[in-house]
Amino acid sequence: MTGAPEDRKIHVACIMDGNGRWARRRGLPRTEGHTAGEEALATVVRAAAARDVGWLTVFGFSTENWVRPRSEVRHILSLHRKLFARTAEMDANNARSSWIGRPFDEPGARTPVEVQRAIGKAMADTAGNDGLVVTVAFDYGSRAELVRAASRTIAASGGDCALIGAASIGANLYDPDLPPVDLLVRTSGETRISNFLLWQIKGAKVHFTERTWPDFDAAELDRALALLARGPSA
Ligand code: IPE
Ligand code: IPE
Ligand code: MG
Repeated sequence: MTGAPEDRKIHVACIMDGNGRWARRRGLPRTEGHTAGEEALATVVRAAAARDVGWLTVFGFSTENWVRPRSEVRHILSLHRKLFARTAEMDANNARSSWIGRPFDEPGARTPVEVQRAIGKAMADTAGNDGLVVTVAFDYGSRAELVRAASRTIAASGGDCALIGAASIGANLYDPDLPPVDLLVRTSGETRISNFLLWQIKGAKVHFTERTWPDFDAAELDRALALLARGPSA
């Protein structure tokens, strides 16, 4: 597979959108769409691992999504607990669980303690896997990440502006080890970025598809990856 701008594996990021529309088209409650979306994610993890993708980062729940109806939020929370508990599948794919979002102990953070525990356990249980890194963005918003990175960088600079730059800001992102995104995917026909990885997608190719997330599969991943095979990005 070619296309990563450096000598490293590819980083694919997905804005998993359209669960509600998938359900509505089938006359089902929105919650069923989210449940189907979790299964689609399991399929994509398997496909990404088989294609030797290095990083898969998915938007699970945004800082803006808390305004949704309480029953829907509750369902999404319980799905994330289940998602982070799928250790056997992660092991089978030699995949490691990771997370980005507002750090639990900082003002404004909203990740409930049960989800915090599930995230901590998933990361510990899969820490020995050295293949695909699957990062779930939960209680994540790129502006919050960038404001925090900028203020930490400024505080550490001691007023020396020469110390404030892309390298120091990048080192203060939620996960400084996350490489730049090579390929960004958004499903369900929306062409917005919705506050996802604004720093990390600087040079990314973007694949928009009409498919809703629960219908996203290995063939659609291949269509997206084909964007990278067309030649190196500038
Ligand atoms: C994406 O699907 C899942 C989350 C944002 C949590 P949506 O729930 O946004 O589905 P649509 O956009 O209403 O179809
Ligand atoms: C983006 O989807 C967030 C996630 C996929 C978790 P939304 O459905 O929340 O985005 P907007 O509101 O349509 O931009
Ligand atoms: Mg949506």
